[in-house]
Amino acid sequence: MTLRSRSLSLNAFRHEALNEVGSTNTECLARARAGEAGLLWLTATRQTDGRGRRGRAWTSEPGNLYASLLLIDPAPPERLASLPLAVAVAVHAALRAVLPTGGEPLEVKWPNDILIGRKKTCGILIESEALPGGHRALVIGIGINIRHMPDSAPYGVTRLHDQGSSASPEDVFAHLFREMATVLEEWDKGRGITTVVDRWRRVACGIGEKITVNLPERSLNGTFAGIDDTGFLLLDTGHGSLMPIAAGDVFFARTE
Ligand code: BTN
Repeated sequence: MTLRSRSLSLNAFRHEALNEVGSTNTECLARARAGEAGLLWLTATRQTDGRGRRGRAWTSEPGNLYASLLLIDPAPPERLASLPLAVAVAVHAALRAVLPTGGEPLEVKWPNDILIGRKKTCGILIESEALPGGHRALVIGIGINIRHMPDSAPYGVTRLHDQGSSASPEDVFAHLFREMATVLEEWDKGRGITTVVDRWRRVACGIGEKITVNLPERSLNGTFAGIDDTGFLLLDTGHGSLMPIAAGDVFFARTE
């Protein structure tokens, strides 16, 4: 089943829990090539070849959540740019549900890093591949630090157990499963971007702060002025207009 209809009920999604796999993202893409129809979650207790952004490895010992959602033909290509924001909103809501109140702030860093007390607690890797017949597979891979976190990282990191949560990977996944279904229905193949952008802005961190945005070929400095109605980051470089940025890595001057 694909995202053909407006109504995406919870029971439209399936879930297969794996013990050990190379990478849940890689497995989803392999299933897509083999004809899998989508709306399929794969989770794994352990990944032996977990993958992060920019070709980095994602260490995947038991105790954290490793989950990937396969979608087939999720939206027309021109509407896909807002999907990372929708994913961030869903993961944020799932983590909100398992964290105690009164802890460090749980926030989203553009476009879809989930931070607790400005420390990274989750990685999201969205991959897509063309399939025969003009179809497209898209995989949303999510790794959440629950009991473990990297020993060394170029940014601050944390895990749910250091933030007062005793949730298991299964507990976190149950919330993620529900929140993702809700947000994808709101997103409505990209037609519901306004709702998603509104929700994203309510949980964003760093608006009004000095940031550096690393692009593939250069870095830009300025003030994070927010996001526009299509989800682009707006950078105030002090030259009188706001620069819209579609993709890049954001660093806050204060903490990184
Ligand atoms: C990042 O570098 O921040 C993204 C990390 C994404 C890790 C998740 S874990 C589940 C899924 N399977 C993978 O191999 N990667 C993603």
